[in-house]
Amino acid sequence: MRVLGIESSCDETGVALYDSDRGLLAQALYSQIDLHAAYGGVVPELASRDHVRKLLPLIRRTLAESGLNPADLDGVAYTAGPGLVGALMVGAATGRALAWALGVPAIAVHHMEGHLLAPLMEADPPEPPFVALLVSGGHTQLMWVKALGQYQLLGETLDDAAGEAFDKTAKLMGLPYPGGPQLAAAALKGRSGVFRFSRPMVNRPDLDFSFSGLKTQVLLAWQASTRTQQDMADIALAFEQAVVDTLAIKCERALERTGCRRLVVAGGVGANRYLREQLQERTARRGARVYFPRPDLCTDNGAMIAYAGCLRLQAGQSEPPVVTCAPRWDLAGLPPLSPALG
Ligand code: KG4
Ligand code: ZN
Repeated sequence: MRVLGIESSCDETGVALYDSDRGLLAQALYSQIDLHAAYGGVVPELASRDHVRKLLPLIRRTLAESGLNPADLDGVAYTAGPGLVGALMVGAATGRALAWALGVPAIAVHHMEGHLLAPLMEADPPEPPFVALLVSGGHTQLMWVKALGQYQLLGETLDDAAGEAFDKTAKLMGLPYPGGPQLAAAALKGRSGVFRFSRPMVNRPDLDFSFSGLKTQVLLAWQASTRTQQDMADIALAFEQAVVDTLAIKCERALERTGCRRLVVAGGVGANRYLREQLQERTARRGARVYFPRPDLCTDNGAMIAYAGCLRLQAGQSEPPVVTCAPRWDLAGLPPLSPALG
């Protein structure tokens, strides 16, 4: 089955072609970073308009690169939520209309299911059941994945998402949008131990997170410092260590609670090098294993939507000929993809 995937939930237009026999055939991504940088964050109306401009050329390019014609498609998948409603509508309307015109089924994909399933596109993929840590700009969740499509929330952030905390912290030290990768780059020159920030909520037995207080700690440290490049690097490193340590402690706890030895990490913050190193080390120490997608499949992309859509179409699911999207959407409410194990 050959599925075209469309991602347009936020500030990236992503398109990809996934073939259930041959894997990923082609993908294209357009980032709106330059468009939003002047405003220090994503401007929803500008995002929607830019998706309108870029989506059809990207679809044509992806088809050309894979050597396929529109008539070769067996289905179209598009992100239907969560995300910015105007941006989502561009992908949903285009994807649904294309499927209608071609007479093939369309499938509305949950953006976070796309992230969660992305590691399964890699060689030697994890078998469910597994624990999944979803860390993006809008979400920080620990999920128990009993079977594909069966998601049980173990814990989540009570305020800022991990990526949001990275972005806001970077911004208050004057780093440009998007702050996560910039702050991680600054941290490479930081000296360990010069600053130390707390690990929020690790003394509570639950698997929830809270990252909003960390940015206040950073603000106070930054204001009290001489605000040199070295101060920024030292603070960035201490912040990164605090976030990564907190995520890792709760991941280990989730593995303990579920008795599972497989951890899957997905979403933009999953591209963070220090997080990857720490989770590799800590899971290996306890005889468990962590699975990440390659870094460019951690951040938003069309491939994960094509893949998740392909699995759901193969399971016989599809949408009626109506364009809808869901800016807020609960992952745990999705229909199963396969019978639950055990
Ligand atoms: O999954 P994603 O691309 O979009 C959403 O679904 O939100 O995640 C974007 C988030 C942003 O907050 C970005 O700053 C963060 O992921 N991010 C990183 C890194 N790369 C992206 N955070 C820390 N270190 C990175 N290397
Ligand atoms: Zn995302």
